[in-house]
Amino acid sequence: MKRVETVDAVREQIARWRRRELSVAFVPTMGNLHDGHIALIRHARDRCDRVVASSFVNPLQFGPDEDFDSYPRTLEQDIERLIEEQTGLLFTPDVDTMYPQSQTGATLVSVPHLSGILCGAHRPGHFDGVTTVVAKLFQIVQPDVAVFGEKDYQQLTLIRRMVADLCMPIEIDGVATQREADGLAMSSRNGNLSEEERAIAPRLFQSLRAAADRLSGGEDIAEIEAAGVNALREAGFRPAYFEVCDAANLSEPNDETAEYVILAAAHLGRTRLIDNIRVNRGVGE
Ligand code: PAF
Repeated sequence: MKRVETVDAVREQIARWRRRELSVAFVPTMGNLHDGHIALIRHARDRCDRVVASSFVNPLQFGPDEDFDSYPRTLEQDIERLIEEQTGLLFTPDVDTMYPQSQTGATLVSVPHLSGILCGAHRPGHFDGVTTVVAKLFQIVQPDVAVFGEKDYQQLTLIRRMVADLCMPIEIDGVATQREADGLAMSSRNGNLSEEERAIAPRLFQSLRAAADRLSGGEDIAEIEAAGVNALREAGFRPAYFEVCDAANLSEPNDETAEYVILAAAHLGRTRLIDNIRVNRGVGE
């Protein structure tokens, strides 16, 4: 695996592959790789001839009171795992490479509405930071396919919308959430949980599964959402939201909805966890 830090070095390597007519899949990450990321790398490897990963903790997507400084950085370990997974190229830019004329006043790529709901309503500016850095990384790597985890379902939906709106010739693949044995969705932030919080954390997915069963049973959506919030509070979380949406575009479900997604975000101590579950319409209706 080659590791590069500049935009030109990425472009040179990609051009070499393109001359040999090799296809390229891209997995953007913020590092601190766990088995969830490895599933993305393996999916990328199945899809294309060469895999490019990036590792960049993007300051633009962190709010002033968020964990940018303490976000786990484990580059040496990450490199070993990426080599084991036959990654061809790792791009590790620094902040000046990604924001050469400073972040202040930098061009933003924003998907209005979608970026302001659910997590966006609680983390102002977060998704503008995500779509901006992903658009820049796409410009640099110009992959055929880019791979994202379904755990960040709102992020995946926004990126699909951005790619469609900006006519980017990139296929966006979502990969199923990887879970611990007790159901907790894998996340870099799980490492911040205390032992006691770690024991409570799987209740987030349990509450989503209970809600999915009630939705399949035809129960009222507002009641399901309220019960979800209560279940999380009783378990010891501070819920931010628990919402049933149309899985296609995160709008309110209506008669046209073919598939639902139930999304939740909640704090356990200082750690913010998110998760979601999808439910086909018609099951039990
Ligand atoms: O999901 C992530 O790790 C980040 O939001 C991403 C897509 C790498 C952009 O910084």
